[in-house]
Amino acid sequence: MNTATAETTAPVSPPAAGSTAAPDSASASDPALPASAPVPVPGPLAAPAASALPEAPVRVTVVVGSDREGRFGPVVADWLLERIGERDDFAVEVVDVAAASLPTALSHDPSPSVAAALAEVSPALDAADAFVVLTPEYNHSFPAGLKNLIDRHFTEWRAKPVALVSYGGISGGLRAAEHLRQVFAELHAVTVRDTVSFHGAAGAFDTGGRPRDPAGPSAAATAMLDQLAWWARALREAKERRPYGG
Ligand SMILES: Cc1cc2nc3c(=O)[nH]c(=O)nc-3n(C[C@H](O)[C@H](O)[C@H](O)COP(=O)(O)O)c2cc1C
Repeated sequence: MNTATAETTAPVSPPAAGSTAAPDSASASDPALPASAPVPVPGPLAAPAASALPEAPVRVTVVVGSDREGRFGPVVADWLLERIGERDDFAVEVVDVAAASLPTALSHDPSPSVAAALAEVSPALDAADAFVVLTPEYNHSFPAGLKNLIDRHFTEWRAKPVALVSYGGISGGLRAAEHLRQVFAELHAVTVRDTVSFHGAAGAFDTGGRPRDPAGPSAAATAMLDQLAWWARALREAKERRPYGG
């Protein structure tokens, strides 16, 4: 699976309207200023306006929610990672439930092996500004292994946005995605409106792992990732000004 980190070059916002305009010629006739008062003109050494500084990329952790033997999940994950990698506003990490080896019995005092397993995944959840959670649908919901990973963390999800990518049989995993919205609400996380879903997933991709009809899924991914980036930046700025108190 591709776990590459996306390039981090962020677009440079245009300066705020009027912020670099030289003062108008009113100063020449302003009685408060001597006629020879120098007019400050921004030069190359002038500090850039705050809005012109490049924005830090959104750190997004992609959670691969399926751990079934022979699973289809990595095909969907690789496609999604390619879409994210095409953009310059995300830096990506991957947490794969199948690689996490977390027992389902919760404990306040995890054994050394469970603590070691958590140490493999928790930092990537904690460091994230945002998440994309990939889920198949099993019996109208999401997999137990994904729920276990979610339940083993709390602050890591808190006040962060979550985007959902689902796949399955005829329903495209949408019932699993809607169940996840309820779970993440309990964890003070916000799920973004748009999702990407693949119904009849195994038949929706060719043998090279590409969607047979890529336009729709790509457009859906763009809309979803745009929303995720907006929420991640908005919440990051808000938390810098005021810690989340919920
Ligand atoms: C135990 C089980 C239950 C399933 N239940 C549903 C279901 O309720 N709705 C659906 O659309 N697909 C269902 N499927 C089909 C899976 O969503 C589909 O095979 C998907 O590719 C599984 O993801 P995975 O291969 O990554 O584990 C089920 C599959 C399994 C194994």
